[in-house]
Amino acid sequence: MNTKELLEALNALSYPGLSRTLGELKLISEVKVTDNQASIELLTLSDDSYLSVKSAIEEAFSQYFSSMNITKKATVKKDMNYGNSAAPNNRAPYAANVIAVTSGKGGVGKSTVSVNLAIALAQRGYRVGILDADLYGPNIPRLTNTDLEKIKWNDDNKIVPSENYGIKIMSVALTTPTSDTPLVWRSSVAVSALIQFLEDVAWGELDFLVIDMPPGTGDIQLTMAQELPITAGVIVTTPQLVASDDVSRSIRMFQDIHVPMAGLVENMSYFIAPDTGTRYDIFGSGGGERLCARYNIPLLGQIPLNMAIREGSDNGEPPVVLGDESLKSYYRDIVENMFKSVKFRV
Ligand SMILES: Nc1ncnc2c1ncn2[C@@H]1O[C@H](COP(=O)(O)OP(=O)(O)OP(=O)(O)O)[C@@H](O)[C@H]1O
Ligand SMILES: [Mg+2]
Repeated sequence: MNTKELLEALNALSYPGLSRTLGELKLISEVKVTDNQASIELLTLSDDSYLSVKSAIEEAFSQYFSSMNITKKATVKKDMNYGNSAAPNNRAPYAANVIAVTSGKGGVGKSTVSVNLAIALAQRGYRVGILDADLYGPNIPRLTNTDLEKIKWNDDNKIVPSENYGIKIMSVALTTPTSDTPLVWRSSVAVSALIQFLEDVAWGELDFLVIDMPPGTGDIQLTMAQELPITAGVIVTTPQLVASDDVSRSIRMFQDIHVPMAGLVENMSYFIAPDTGTRYDIFGSGGGERLCARYNIPLLGQIPLNMAIREGSDNGEPPVVLGDESLKSYYRDIVENMFKSVKFRV
């Protein structure tokens, strides 16, 4: 096998566990064959991905060479080693604006905020899609009452997103046989699946693509920042200090990788007892405001801990559609404030 033949064969090799080839995923950086020795440089994002691709290549081609040297191209160190997201790719040219809803911490209400914010945008007449980027804990289908839908493909071989409450919805849950199917993926596979959801879903033209991120500051957040020009990041937190610490990390990461911040939503801010009307600051108070002051970002809104929000969400009945006026206004006001803090392309 000479250099050209090896390059062609590598480009046609499937990524382990995926229906995409290394060529399609643009993972080959350099290939050289001399004296029956092959050297291959891979453009992979993570060590996990590098190791799985490396062993797939060795398995397929080691018989043809006396030795194979497979290396990973060193990523350009920039801004706290997060890689280059100052000039990201654009895997979603169909979306005029991309909003990433994130938090360093789990369970603070990212998915609930994402769904209601996406619907509030659609209620203003915009074309909106929501991408469930929480591949290990996809919740968007339940929240939008689309959890029983199964994956469909159109004639162009693109995945047809679910639709409900005026928004288009894509989640890995759509691709699993049951809602409790465990998703045990290496992060490299998860990242590739997400890229497929950006590229191979028939989203149509969108004014807004809202991305519900998983908790934390890992591979998925980084990939999204590198593969998409994120118009605005929305940070969700609860008022207590432990939440603030994790959320600070998220804000720092997004600021470091040049994602513009729309602002912060403080969720489960307080509780008004329905019987007495007394306000209780269950998780303390002022956490959101302090974070906003510290990082110089706007406070987009404070949403109380409210039983109807929890119930509606669990039943796939988003409060911004089916809640009472006060519930609707929490999310609509957040959208209103986002428009004040970010210049969207609309
Ligand atoms: N303001 C609220 N009042 C009452 N319950 C809420 C509120 N916001 C969210 N919840 C409930 O809290 C739980 C966690 O919310 P959600 O799934 O949106 O959080 P998350 O940050 O996306 O979690 P994860 O990190 O697991 O993705 C859900 O049961 C949801 O219904
Ligand atoms: Mg979630």
